[in-house]
Amino acid sequence: EPIVSTTIADVREVVAAARTSATGPDATAAAAAAPRVALVPTMGALHDGHLALVERARETADVVVVSIFVNPLQFNQASDLENYPRTLDEDLAKLGAAGVDIVFAPGGEEMYPNGPVATRVTGGGVGMMFEGRSRRGHFDGVLTVVSKLFHIVAPDVAVFGQKDAQQAFLVQRMVRDLDLPLRIEVVETVRADDGLALSSRNRRLDSTERRAATTIAAALDAAASSADRGIDAVIAAAQSTLMGEPVVKLDYLVVVDPATFEPAPDDFHGRALILIAATVGDTRLIDNEYAFVN
Ligand code: PAJ
Repeated sequence: EPIVSTTIADVREVVAAARTSATGPDATAAAAAAPRVALVPTMGALHDGHLALVERARETADVVVVSIFVNPLQFNQASDLENYPRTLDEDLAKLGAAGVDIVFAPGGEEMYPNGPVATRVTGGGVGMMFEGRSRRGHFDGVLTVVSKLFHIVAPDVAVFGQKDAQQAFLVQRMVRDLDLPLRIEVVETVRADDGLALSSRNRRLDSTERRAATTIAAALDAAASSADRGIDAVIAAAQSTLMGEPVVKLDYLVVVDPATFEPAPDDFHGRALILIAATVGDTRLIDNEYAFVN
């Protein structure tokens, strides 16, 4: 069973104690080295996508810490924050089965005792585009809580999902820009059998919406398959797939250069990232896929 901490002071002690007592997976080689700590930040309502991050953390570190905190700072709609699924007991059972050592599950009062913090970490221009444009202030809220978590847990490595590609990009850039002493690992998107990217929000879809939602992944596949014919062909292939499913309302479809997260110019060649955000019923979904554009 994982140790569950709900306060910053306690989790700091628990992680420090684990650092001095844990032995590495390769005891002989690791004997001299300090045990490595991995952090997997989450908002709970855990599914197999989160558990893939935990699995990666276990492979790369001796001590695995998972944080569960529904961060009010990154929600720009009160209703979205209220409706966010909270399943702590089930989450703890899953994390126990996955061999997690420490769970940090603070309440809002613990993380923000004086209400929303005035000091924020900002993602700059990229933080205002795509997800940041549809959800104002979202990424500043994400980067601020992620940097708080990094300072609280002080991990050697933190694991994020490719599912939230823009978030992963901004966190990696924050770590570089601010010289944070840890490494970021990004785990590929975990999908249902029909291709839909796993998300805590999927549970809000009714059966018609759930079926329609598979069009998003299908559009990405069609787009990636057209990549040898250039950016325009990529966009056209995704658009024509999405047009066949009126239940899916497109928010944005864009191809970006993964090095900068800026929209790829028409004559772009090389590894590109295709991003889709769409609303299905009342549920906003995002997904992405890499493609090699010729
Ligand atoms: P949350 O949505 O709970 O996601 C936690 C982590 O799980 C993120 O790194 C996300 O990219 C990853 N993830 C979600 N679905 C995935 C899937 N299908 N496959 C692979 N990884 C997946 O992202 C957040 O929480 C928050 O913004 C957080 C970083 C915790 C800051 O509050």
